[in-house]
Amino acid sequence: MQTTIDIAKLAEEVIARCRTLASFSEDTSGTRRTFLSAPMRDCHREITRWLEPLGVQVRVDAAGNLRAIYPAVDSAAPRLVVGSHLDTVPNAGAFDGILGVVLAVALLQVLQGRKLPYGIEVVGFSEEEGVRFGTPFIGSRALVGRLDEELLTRTDTQGISVRRAIQDFGLNPAEIAQATLDKSLLGFLEFHIEQGPVLEKLGRPLGVVEAIAGQSRLEVTFMGRANHAGTTPMDLRQDALAGAAEWITAVERVARGVRGLVATAGSMEVKPGATNVIAGEVRLSLDVRHSADDVRTRMVDELIRHAEQIAQSRGLSVRQHNRLSQSATTMDPFLTGQIEEAVRKCGCDPHRMVSGAGHDAMILAERIPAAMIFLRTPGGISHNPMESVFVYDVAKAIECGVYLLDQLASSSKFQTRMCRA
Ligand code: GLV
Ligand code: MN
Ligand code: MN
Repeated sequence: MQTTIDIAKLAEEVIARCRTLASFSEDTSGTRRTFLSAPMRDCHREITRWLEPLGVQVRVDAAGNLRAIYPAVDSAAPRLVVGSHLDTVPNAGAFDGILGVVLAVALLQVLQGRKLPYGIEVVGFSEEEGVRFGTPFIGSRALVGRLDEELLTRTDTQGISVRRAIQDFGLNPAEIAQATLDKSLLGFLEFHIEQGPVLEKLGRPLGVVEAIAGQSRLEVTFMGRANHAGTTPMDLRQDALAGAAEWITAVERVARGVRGLVATAGSMEVKPGATNVIAGEVRLSLDVRHSADDVRTRMVDELIRHAEQIAQSRGLSVRQHNRLSQSATTMDPFLTGQIEEAVRKCGCDPHRMVSGAGHDAMILAERIPAAMIFLRTPGGISHNPMESVFVYDVAKAIECGVYLLDQLASSSKFQTRMCRA
């Protein structure tokens, strides 16, 4: 690879930049940056400060996605989109999502103004985690034309709708259609930490994603009767929290019995939520994932049946809202093969794998060829402030990205492909 840039030093800068962005948070005690929260603006400002000297035009689209175009030799040439998400879970690490955006910036730094036969659009998606509105992928859905009326009217726990959040950030929901990808796109590339232990176990810095597991997200509410905790005998209660607890352990038991299935009740809201009051209502989130869509949807139905049986046996009622049913997605075979070749050029052994985590790439894949490169995650720890990366792996990811850009620059097959829209 020919460059005058010190890649190891650049890798250190990438990590330092991710840590800087992690300091832009809604919480003082840790990183939390949800859809169009105030710290997202600081994040946009900081990344723009890095991008502008690289000859890039930066804008924020109406869905709050940061969009920056690095021009091709010919201004009419199609573009490759490179990026990931800028939002985080509560008490997050510094690398989930953010690393993919900062690495995209680093690739432009390595190019040092050298133009390719195709342009590069760097995207920092405004929302991927689903924390604020219970529905993930708001940013990438805008790019594929699926930030629809139903999603715009969803509300957060404060009763603020997605539409209102967009307006409050100074953006115009009427312009969301303009955020949609145009037809001059060649593909989407996302760097992301693996968020699991596989690459570390194999001793490999980089992985090549072949497919992303599908996921369902639901809201399940048990309703009983709030009553006095001191005066209501144990056999005369309709305790929504005890019912929810029984169901949570059933979810775990069922998921353990099905190969490849993961099911998580990750959040719970108890009403009225007082020590001396039997819970009258409990709202839970359920997240179910499997690489086979038929297994996933069958198991969601089974888990809901369990909830209904538990509710009936306890004199409770239960209702559910489906928040997401996202199919498993295959990554583009051509781009995946190109990534494998680039990984080998770095002196690494590529490992093909399925991602259990959801990614913006699965949404972009609806419209354009999409591919992902995973970086080894120390300890397999993610969605946790302990999340980290190795400088060596980040350097390998940069090297791999530069090889890939050059391979694609000399591939007529790549440059003649058009988007499927
Ligand atoms: C993203 O972090 C996911 O929940 O898959
Ligand atoms: Mn995440
Ligand atoms: Mn992520």
